[in-house]
Amino acid sequence: MVDIDTHTDATETFIHEMTAEYRDRMKQLVDENYNDEYFRSVGDERAVIEREFPRQAWEELYTGCLPPARQLNLVYEQGEPFGRDRDIVIGLIKQIQDEAKHGRLISSLAERVGVEADPITWEAPYQEELIGQVETAMNRDKPHLIAAGLQLSTEIMAAFMIRNLADYIEPAYPEIADTLRNDISADEGDHIHIGRLIGMRFATPADHALMREIAEEKYEFTARTLRSLHT
Ligand SMILES: [Fe+2]
Ligand SMILES: [Fe+2]
Repeated sequence: MVDIDTHTDATETFIHEMTAEYRDRMKQLVDENYNDEYFRSVGDERAVIEREFPRQAWEELYTGCLPPARQLNLVYEQGEPFGRDRDIVIGLIKQIQDEAKHGRLISSLAERVGVEADPITWEAPYQEELIGQVETAMNRDKPHLIAAGLQLSTEIMAAFMIRNLADYIEPAYPEIADTLRNDISADEGDHIHIGRLIGMRFATPADHALMREIAEEKYEFTARTLRSLHT
C-alpha cells in the first residue's frame, strides 16, 4: 500500500528544492548574459527597447501562454477540473490572462517611443531558438511534466530579465521602467505557485527523475537562447 503522506512529503520537498535551485541558477544565468555590458553593446536606452521589447512581447505571448493553455487542456482530460482541481484551472486561466497582458503591455510601451513590437508581424533573427524553447516546454503529455520545464524551473527568468532591462532604461524612461517592474515582474510569484500546485497534485516520486531531466533540458535550451543574443 502506498503511504500517501510520505509520498506527498517527498514530492513537496522535491518541488521546493527544485524551484529554489532553478531560481538561483536562472538569476545567475540572466545576470551573466542579460546585463549592462550586453545592453551597452546594443546602444542607448532607446536602442535597447528597439532590440529587446519585440522579443520580450513575443516570449510573453508564446512561451508564456501556450504551455499553460496545454496544461489547462491536460488537467481537463486527466484531472478533476470541476472538483478537486478547480484552483488549478482558475490559476492557469489567470496565468494565460497575465502573460497576454504582459505581451500587450510591452508592445504598447515600445510603441510609445516609436518602436514597433507587434508579435503578429515581428520576425526574429534568431526565431529558431525561440521556437525551440516553446517546443521544449510544450512537448509533454502530463501537466506536471510541463510545469517542470516552465513554472518550476525557467519561467522565473522572465522576471529577472525584465528587472535588468528596467534598470538599464530607467535614466531615459523612468515611467516605462516602473511599469515593467510593477505590472509584469509582480505577477510571476502567482505563476510559480500554480506550477507548485500542479506538481503537488499530479506528480509522484516516480516522476521526480524525469521532471529534473526536463527542467535541465529546458535550462540548457534557455541558456543557449540567452547566449545567442551576444552573437
Ligand atoms: Fe509574463
Ligand atoms: Fe509568468
